[in-house]
Amino acid sequence: MILCWGEGHGSSIHDHTDSHCFMKILQGNLKETLFEWPEKKGNGEMTKKSERVLRENQCAYINDSIGLHRVENISHTETAVSLHLYSPPFDSCNTFDQRTGHKHKVKMTFYSQFGERTHCAMAMSQENN
Ligand SMILES: [Fe+2]
Repeated sequence: MILCWGEGHGSSIHDHTDSHCFMKILQGNLKETLFEWPEKKGNGEMTKKSERVLRENQCAYINDSIGLHRVENISHTETAVSLHLYSPPFDSCNTFDQRTGHKHKVKMTFYSQFGERTHCAMAMSQENN
Protein backbone atom coordinates (compact mmCIF):
# COMPACT_ATOMS: atom_id res chain seq x y z
CA MET A 1 0.00 0.00 0.00
CA ILE A 2 1.33 3.48 -0.84
CA LEU A 3 0.20 6.43 1.25
CA CYS A 4 0.56 10.06 0.17
CA TRP A 5 0.61 12.55 3.03
CA GLY A 6 -0.24 16.19 2.55
CA GLU A 7 1.32 18.84 4.77
CA GLY A 8 0.09 18.29 8.32
CA HIS A 9 -1.74 15.04 7.52
CA GLY A 10 -1.66 12.32 10.15
CA SER A 11 -3.24 8.97 10.98
CA SER A 12 -5.30 8.26 14.05
CA ILE A 13 -3.75 6.04 16.72
CA HIS A 14 -4.30 2.48 15.47
CA ASP A 15 -3.49 -1.19 15.89
CA HIS A 16 -2.46 -3.68 13.17
CA THR A 17 -4.91 -6.58 13.56
CA ASP A 18 -2.25 -9.14 14.56
CA SER A 19 -0.28 -8.49 11.36
CA HIS A 20 3.33 -7.57 10.78
CA CYS A 21 3.59 -4.01 9.46
CA PHE A 22 6.64 -2.81 7.53
CA MET A 23 6.89 0.78 6.40
CA LYS A 24 9.46 2.57 4.24
CA ILE A 25 9.59 6.31 3.71
CA LEU A 26 9.83 6.99 -0.02
CA GLN A 27 9.71 10.80 0.17
CA GLY A 28 9.82 13.36 2.95
CA ASN A 29 9.77 12.60 6.68
CA LEU A 30 7.11 11.10 8.94
CA LYS A 31 6.86 11.27 12.71
CA GLU A 32 5.90 8.03 14.45
CA THR A 33 4.52 8.19 17.99
CA LEU A 34 4.23 4.86 19.86
CA PHE A 35 1.55 4.31 22.50
CA GLU A 36 0.87 1.57 25.00
CA TRP A 37 -2.36 -0.39 24.69
CA PRO A 38 -5.00 1.25 26.90
CA GLU A 39 -6.43 -0.55 29.94
CA LYS A 40 -9.22 -3.01 29.08
CA LYS A 41 -12.01 -0.46 29.52
CA GLY A 42 -10.01 2.52 28.31
CA ASN A 43 -10.81 5.50 30.47
CA GLY A 44 -8.02 8.02 30.47
CA GLU A 45 -5.22 9.63 28.49
CA MET A 46 -3.22 7.05 26.55
CA THR A 47 0.43 6.54 27.53
CA LYS A 48 3.05 7.66 25.02
CA LYS A 49 6.02 5.27 24.83
CA SER A 50 8.29 7.05 22.37
CA GLU A 51 8.42 9.22 19.31
CA ARG A 52 10.84 9.51 16.42
CA VAL A 53 11.13 11.02 12.99
CA LEU A 54 11.51 8.55 10.14
CA ARG A 55 13.50 10.07 7.29
CA GLU A 56 13.54 9.37 3.58
CA ASN A 57 14.56 5.74 2.84
CA GLN A 58 14.27 4.69 6.48
CA CYS A 59 12.27 1.57 7.33
CA ALA A 60 10.15 0.86 10.40
CA TYR A 61 8.32 -2.13 11.80
CA ILE A 62 5.44 -2.55 14.22
CA ASN A 63 3.06 -5.24 15.41
CA ASP A 64 0.46 -5.39 18.15
CA SER A 65 2.90 -6.72 20.75
CA ILE A 66 5.06 -3.57 20.30
CA GLY A 67 2.03 -1.32 20.80
CA LEU A 68 -0.04 1.19 18.87
CA HIS A 69 1.11 4.13 16.82
CA ARG A 70 0.22 7.37 15.12
CA VAL A 71 2.05 8.44 11.95
CA GLU A 72 2.13 12.11 10.90
CA ASN A 73 3.64 14.38 8.33
CA ILE A 74 4.46 17.28 10.62
CA SER A 75 5.93 19.41 7.84
CA HIS A 76 3.97 22.49 6.80
CA THR A 77 5.79 22.75 3.49
CA GLU A 78 6.66 19.21 2.27
CA THR A 79 4.46 16.28 1.32
CA ALA A 80 5.50 12.71 2.14
CA VAL A 81 5.04 9.26 0.60
CA SER A 82 5.34 5.92 2.39
CA LEU A 83 5.22 2.27 1.34
CA HIS A 84 3.44 -0.19 3.67
CA LEU A 85 3.57 -3.96 3.66
CA TYR A 86 1.18 -5.94 5.87
CA SER A 87 1.47 -9.67 6.43
CA PRO A 88 -1.05 -11.18 6.55
CA PRO A 89 -3.27 -8.54 4.92
CA PHE A 90 -6.23 -7.19 6.91
CA ASP A 91 -9.39 -5.27 6.04
CA SER A 92 -10.22 -3.67 9.35
CA CYS A 93 -8.34 -2.34 12.36
CA ASN A 94 -9.05 -0.32 15.50
CA THR A 95 -8.48 3.37 16.02
CA PHE A 96 -8.07 4.82 19.52
CA ASP A 97 -9.03 8.13 21.10
CA GLN A 98 -5.86 9.54 22.69
CA ARG A 99 -7.74 11.23 25.54
CA THR A 100 -9.91 8.29 26.60
CA GLY A 101 -8.31 5.14 25.14
CA HIS A 102 -11.69 4.20 23.67
CA LYS A 103 -11.37 2.08 20.55
CA HIS A 104 -13.39 2.12 17.38
CA LYS A 105 -13.31 -0.52 14.65
CA VAL A 106 -12.77 0.85 11.14
CA LYS A 107 -12.73 -0.74 7.71
CA MET A 108 -9.76 -0.08 5.45
CA THR A 109 -10.58 1.95 2.34
CA PHE A 110 -8.46 2.62 -0.73
CA TYR A 111 -8.28 5.60 -3.09
CA SER A 112 -7.30 3.22 -5.89
CA GLN A 113 -6.64 -0.49 -6.30
CA PHE A 114 -4.52 -2.06 -9.05
CA GLY A 115 -4.25 1.31 -10.77
CA GLU A 116 -8.00 1.95 -10.85
CA ARG A 117 -9.88 4.50 -8.75
CA THR A 118 -12.13 2.73 -6.29
CA HIS A 119 -15.82 3.43 -5.91
CA CYS A 120 -15.20 4.40 -2.30
CA ALA A 121 -12.63 7.05 -3.26
CA MET A 122 -15.16 8.69 -5.60
CA ALA A 123 -17.84 8.71 -2.93
CA MET A 124 -15.38 10.28 -0.50
CA SER A 125 -14.20 12.98 -2.89
CA GLN A 126 -17.84 13.93 -3.55
CA GLU A 127 -18.44 14.18 0.16
CA ASN A 128 -15.42 16.44 0.48
CA ASN A 129 -16.57 18.83 -2.23
FE1 LIG B 1 0.32 1.69 11.28
